[in-house]
Amino acid sequence: MTATGQAPSPSMPPLLDVAGVTVRFGGIHALTEADFAIPAGTVTSLIGPNGAGKTTMLNAITGMVPVAAGAIRLGGEDLLGLPPHRRAATGVVRTFQNLEVFTSLSVLENVMAGRHTHTRYSILASLVRTPGFRRVEAACRNRAMDCLDFVGLADMADAPAGDLPYGSQRLLEMARALAADPKLLLLDEPAAGLNSKETARLGDLIMAVRDKLGVTIGLVEHDMDLVMHVSDFVTVLNFGHPLASGTPDEVQADPEVVRAYLGEDE
Ligand SMILES: Nc1ncnc2c1ncn2[C@@H]1O[C@H](COP(=O)(O)OP(=O)(O)OP(=O)(O)O)[C@@H](O)[C@H]1O
Ligand SMILES: [Mg+2]
Repeated sequence: MTATGQAPSPSMPPLLDVAGVTVRFGGIHALTEADFAIPAGTVTSLIGPNGAGKTTMLNAITGMVPVAAGAIRLGGEDLLGLPPHRRAATGVVRTFQNLEVFTSLSVLENVMAGRHTHTRYSILASLVRTPGFRRVEAACRNRAMDCLDFVGLADMADAPAGDLPYGSQRLLEMARALAADPKLLLLDEPAAGLNSKETARLGDLIMAVRDKLGVTIGLVEHDMDLVMHVSDFVTVLNFGHPLASGTPDEVQADPEVVRAYLGEDE
């Protein structure tokens, strides 16, 4: 069940619709006519071997690499014509494969930085600290605290972010992404470097973001136990092209997927 109370189905109009996208880096075809749909209210994962094009897919969606062909739509609206900051304003928010925490800022300040697309005031207003500025800042701080509370880091709000253990820094990134009020949250290997207990907690959190906050999630992840546990749907990429899409059970039973990817560990 999703946050909308409906059982997700591939026939639901997707929130995100990537159709026939091609991305090349010189002679490297990172994505070739790739389709990837994320139905609203689901956790939908993108898996595949190293170099399959998963991060490139997130980069194409968020406007960080040029797309040579295809279409990318969010709720039916074309994203390809928009620069990255305008895509963020439509509600597409991501985290990165490598940790992107500002270690010298406090935990709370890191999360407040995630709200910058929602806070508008002039430099003069911030220097003079006008009542309007102080109201906006207080609202931003409150919202950031709510996000820290959601990921279980509220007690650490005033600590320098660099003092947090690695696993908590990953949660901090999630809190910062939530502070941007995403419609679609794209997570690039959030479990990388986490131990099994931290990974289990992350799984609970991902499902809580979907079920309690109603945020749709696109998950890129190598930890197959996590992927199969939290996902409504899974798309498998191989050499830049989708090999299979379906429910976790369907994908795990697909002989081509087992041969190309899932069989690797056995
Ligand atoms: N900016 C770039 N310039 C040149 N080649 C790139 C660039 N980004 C990605 N590539 C290449 O595109 C292919 C896909 O890379 P990508 O990072 O999307 O894979 P991935 O599925 O995320 O892999 P991993 O699981 O290792 O993170 C690889 O061959 C990679 O070397
Ligand atoms: Mg990657």
